[in-house]
Amino acid sequence: MSEQVTERSDMWSNSFIFVLAAAGSAVGLGNIWKFPYIAGENGGGAFVLVYLICIAIIGIPVMVSEIMLGKLGRASPIQALLNLSRKHNRSTKWSIVGYMGVLTGFLILSFYAVVAGWVCYYILRLFTGEFSGADAGSVGEAFNTFLSDPWQVLLWFSIFMVITIFFVARGVTRGLELCVRYSMPAVFVLLLILIGYGIHAGGFVESAVFLFNPDFSALTREGVLIALGHAFFTLSLGMGAIMAYGAYVPQDVSVGTTTFTIAILDTVLALLAGLAIFAIVFANSLAPDAGPGLLFVTVPVAFGNLPGGTFFGGLFFLLVALAALTSAISISEPAIAYFSERNKISRAKIAVVIGVVCWVLGVGSVLSFNVWADVKLAFFDWTFFDSLDKITQLVLLPLGGLLIALIVGHVLPKQVVFEELGLVSPQIQRAWWIIVGFITPLAVFCVFIIEALGEITAHM
Ligand code: PHE
Repeated sequence: MSEQVTERSDMWSNSFIFVLAAAGSAVGLGNIWKFPYIAGENGGGAFVLVYLICIAIIGIPVMVSEIMLGKLGRASPIQALLNLSRKHNRSTKWSIVGYMGVLTGFLILSFYAVVAGWVCYYILRLFTGEFSGADAGSVGEAFNTFLSDPWQVLLWFSIFMVITIFFVARGVTRGLELCVRYSMPAVFVLLLILIGYGIHAGGFVESAVFLFNPDFSALTREGVLIALGHAFFTLSLGMGAIMAYGAYVPQDVSVGTTTFTIAILDTVLALLAGLAIFAIVFANSLAPDAGPGLLFVTVPVAFGNLPGGTFFGGLFFLLVALAALTSAISISEPAIAYFSERNKISRAKIAVVIGVVCWVLGVGSVLSFNVWADVKLAFFDWTFFDSLDKITQLVLLPLGGLLIALIVGHVLPKQVVFEELGLVSPQIQRAWWIIVGFITPLAVFCVFIIEALGEITAHM
């Protein structure tokens, strides 16, 4: 037996460790950095509602499907899909979903690590007390000054990339488990402290109204697609990351229960982060639609004005960096698993190659905020960073998720799926099949079509 197989087959020794690993993948920059700023850009409440609906009717069924495919195929996503299609006499072309996932992983990791680099720099900035007593204006300016210096951004991006590749190369388990077990509850507590600041500073009620009182006039067509894409992004779905982790799930793990646990954890953390950040926004009369810099402006202002803020602020960014690290590790897993099973090259060498490719791509994202700020993708007005972010979130992840639902709903024999999920009652079998075979794919398909038609008519 090859080294990798032995190493991976005992990867998750029980269901709790699998939940930790999958939650570590799901909870990351998507929750703390991205969700608040896209909710802010898309008008709040109505967007949040669509996002929650997407999690429930699309995210959860796709997560169950991914874990199950991994568990049934017991290999990298590409190989797992090949194994399953051969075993059940189906077209091996379905493995294209696995290849798409590997590609998507490279694209996501390249820009994800750039933002994670910003977080790393902010650990230092907060621990040194740079923002104590600072007002929102100067904190915002400090962020812009940082982004405008390509070398600084490149440095922190490279640091995060090296750390990620180091852990990816070593193989994950132990460190990952410890990291998630302690840092996730700690993030939770610090978010509560920030909410406490919001209540004290007087922005909390407005924040809750902004996030939970749907104003449908503020929701655009693109907002619906963004909410859909984010449901995939935040749950790590549509590119095989969770499928790759699912390949090492012990046989007796209940896929349904683990999925619900992960989805609830992930959603609660995102909502808490949103509540905390908008409370700071409203308490300081900031703009909710400030874009990707929102986290880096609001949180330092709050900690800068809290007792013990230097320590707790530094700790907050440290924990966010750890959450980003456990997600980044999982983004590379489909590629790592695929190349190591094919080429029998060591995990370390593959990790370095992945790191170099993502680093080169990432330089484009680093420059998007300064030297290349005016270089835009024709027609869409996206920078290099925006393009990778949007193409993965708005197209590749939902498409991957759609295909995964189709595979589980229509390609695999139904009996195999029911058995694997332990669905015995015919009513439940039917309900599950209608959801994964029809509702989930149709919902994704409709959002795509409406968006495409809208784009076409808008440009006519
Ligand atoms: N879910 C992660 C986050 O919210 C990002 C991620 C996307 C991880 C895709 C794996 C796959 O930060």
